[in-house]
Formats: sequence, structure tokens, C-alpha cells
Amino acid sequence: MRKMSVLDLCRMKESGEKVSWITAYDAPTASLAEQAGIDMLLVGDSVGMCVYGYSGTTEMTMPIMLAHTAAVRRGAPQTYVIGDMPFLSYQVSAEEAVRNAGAFIQEAGADAVKLEGGRRVAKQIRAISEAGIVVFGHIGLTPQSSGQLGGFKAQGLTVDSARAMIADAEAVQEAGAMFLLVEAVAPQVTRIIRERLSIPVYGIGAGPHTDGELLIVSDLLGIFEAFTPKFVKRYARLAEQIREAFTAYREEVKSGAFPGPEHAYNMKPDELEKLQAELGA
Ligand code: KIV
Repeated sequence: MRKMSVLDLCRMKESGEKVSWITAYDAPTASLAEQAGIDMLLVGDSVGMCVYGYSGTTEMTMPIMLAHTAAVRRGAPQTYVIGDMPFLSYQVSAEEAVRNAGAFIQEAGADAVKLEGGRRVAKQIRAISEAGIVVFGHIGLTPQSSGQLGGFKAQGLTVDSARAMIADAEAVQEAGAMFLLVEAVAPQVTRIIRERLSIPVYGIGAGPHTDGELLIVSDLLGIFEAFTPKFVKRYARLAEQIREAFTAYREEVKSGAFPGPEHAYNMKPDELEKLQAELGA
């Protein structure tokens, strides 16, 4: 299997082949995704909610994100991996943004970085792109600024909001981002954005007019049960299976059914005899 590159992603847009994209936070899941032929993996700061149990993403830091990105890279060496820049790793200055984006590439083996925001992070997108790093913009519902949005709310539902989304999308492309992710935006607005931009436009909860789709792995697998956004489709119900497995294990431990003889490392009979003779047993 050949490693995916930006050229493949651009070719897929040209040919109309949609990109399948999911989040991943660990090596085993990344490896399964690669075996299934998933095109791209986002090491999202959603790891804060899906793995660390926070109610948002702002607690995530560079060391945490780098560790998860490196794990995903080890699990999926051929898949296109995008590191998600955490809160305050790029907002403070363009210089810090470049340094932190560089760490995703240099220390964690990512192929690209993603950062949230439109016009207000154009300076950072430009600086990171000029450093030679592939940038994915991310507009719409941007979880790091959910406080300002009044929660995890869909965007682009009014004329003013739609105008803002379109202006943000254009600013992201203009600043040098090679790809754009649109989250929880009215499909009609996503369509306009995709028509106006030349770069690939991917969506999560942004309707069908995209060049590819992203889903959070924990939603897709049915592991995350705290809440389910409208745009999620569950392809498995792993939470139920995991609970059943834990219950069966607990019951077998209590009853003594586990471990069975097949789960033990037995001594060879002659070794056992020698030991028994030695102990006078
Ligand atoms: O962190 C993440 O997984 C994301 C997606 C919600 C787009 O940024």
C-alpha cells in the first residue's frame, strides 16, 4: 500500500471520489482504520471528550496531542494523518503557531495540521503554510470557541451567519490552507462554499455537498454515549458489546468459570515430579 499524499487528495476531488475520514486517538484503532482503507485520520482534540472524559476540548495540550498523534502514526504508517492543534497552541501568535505546527510534523509524524477559525486565524494559517506545512482550515461549529458560540451549535442558519461562514472559508483558502473542514453548517451554505473555493471542502454535519466526510470514531462505533449530534450515523454499537463482555467476565470470575485449564501455563510433568520429590510432597 502506497502512502497517501496531497496529490492523491486533490486527484480525488477532481475525479469526484469522496474522501473517507475519521478521527483516531490510538494505534490499534488507527491500524484497523488503515486495514479498512479509510483515507485520512484526524487526531482530533475531541480526544478530550471521547477518551479523557472532559465536557469540551480546551483542556487538551500540545504534549497530549503529540503523544496521541505519534500513536496514530505508528498504527497507520500509510494513512494521511492530520494533527489537531489544541487550544492556545496557535491563537497567541503566528510564531508560536508555526513552532507548534512543526512539532506535529517533526515529533509526531503527522502529514498536516488542522486549526479552528476563519478570518481571525488567517495570519496563523499563512505563517504555517509559508513554513511548508499543509494546513486544514476548520470553520462552522468550532468546539474550542463553543463558549462564544453559546455551545455546540450549528452555524450558517441565518443570512448573517451564512455570510460569515462564506467569508471565513474564503479567508482560509486565501491564507494558504490546502483543505477546509466545515462542521455543523447548513448544507445550502456548504454547497455555496464548495462552489466558491478551489480547494477540497470536507464536511462533518455539513450535508452532502462535500469532497469527503469526517466522523468521530467514538460516535461511528457507538462508544460515546454522553450525547449524539444529529449528524452522527452509528455503524456499530460497541458500548453495548463492551458492557456485555465486562458483565460476562465479572460473572465468570465470581463463579470460578474463568480462568479454565486452557488459560494456565502448566509445569512439565517431570519438572513437577522433581519439585514434589524435593518438597517431599
Ligand atoms: O477534534 C475533532 O475531532 C474535531 C472534529 C470535531 C472536527 O475537530
